[in-house]
Amino acid sequence: MSDKTARIKVAIQKSGRLTEQSLDLLQRCGLKYTKGPDQLIAFGENMPVDVLLVRDDDIPGLVRDDVCDLGIAGLNIVEEKRLHFLEQEPVEPFRIIRALDYGQCRLAFAYPDGSPLRTVADLAGRRIATSYPSIVRDYLRRQNLSATVVEFSGAVEIAPSLGRADAICDLVSTGATLVANKLREGETILESRAVILQTPVEVPPEKADWINRLLQRVEGVMQVRESKYIMMHAPKAALAKIAALLPGSEAPTVLPLDGRDDLVAVHVVCRENVFWETLESLKAAGATSLLVLPVEKMLA
Ligand code: PRP
Ligand code: ZN
Repeated sequence: MSDKTARIKVAIQKSGRLTEQSLDLLQRCGLKYTKGPDQLIAFGENMPVDVLLVRDDDIPGLVRDDVCDLGIAGLNIVEEKRLHFLEQEPVEPFRIIRALDYGQCRLAFAYPDGSPLRTVADLAGRRIATSYPSIVRDYLRRQNLSATVVEFSGAVEIAPSLGRADAICDLVSTGATLVANKLREGETILESRAVILQTPVEVPPEKADWINRLLQRVEGVMQVRESKYIMMHAPKAALAKIAALLPGSEAPTVLPLDGRDDLVAVHVVCRENVFWETLESLKAAGATSLLVLPVEKMLA
């Protein structure tokens, strides 16, 4: 661990919609860290993993150039940079190895309220403001549409009212920004969420073990968030019916109950959320004493 080169560098967004959940994910993977004086690097104390806090737009490039081994960024930024890098050089700049369960949003067209433009087909010959020029151009090409892409690095939503564009293509999460700027949401061209990127170069053996461990722990964290441990009493006669109602589970553990020939205890890990409806169906099938517990850690 003393060898500096063997430390794994993970790039995440410094401040923005993914920051808190990315740090939380790394902490759930067991990482304890201290922040450097400039707050741009968090040094792992108990794992050879350092976290670089950077602008999200810089993450794909840092991973492509192997400055960072891994990066966490929104698929929107990742895809934009991937297309951009591919225009420069036709080799995949990085590997997208895992989609995560946060940062969901969409890249969508939006048209000014009261504008005659309604769909993408109406955009022929028009100007589209966006911070995602490569994705939009790629989309227009595939739709056989020719339109002018006007690049904005931020505040895209004000472009139409400034007279700089006829429509926009921007990230939408709640839709509040569009409403506030009197824009009507149109077609989605990319569904986005946080993803993990890995460097395109082969991982040196001294790093491979910790990278694999980290990725396995990410798997575990993802599974745990959805998983529940369910316990209940069930009539033996209803076991098959009850097992069929359990969402995303493997074979349940069936245990005898002292002094009861007709009843058994059933324990099972469900890898999907357990809703009240499921419990109600289990009860209707004869289950009693139903308990649903959160799962703390999981290693498959
Ligand atoms: C995006 C986008 C909109 C806003 C949409 O910006 O550019 O401004 O989010 O979100 P809403 O639908 O919930 O209103 P972001 O916050 O990602 O900042 P950035 O453009 O500076 O990266
Ligand atoms: Zn940004």
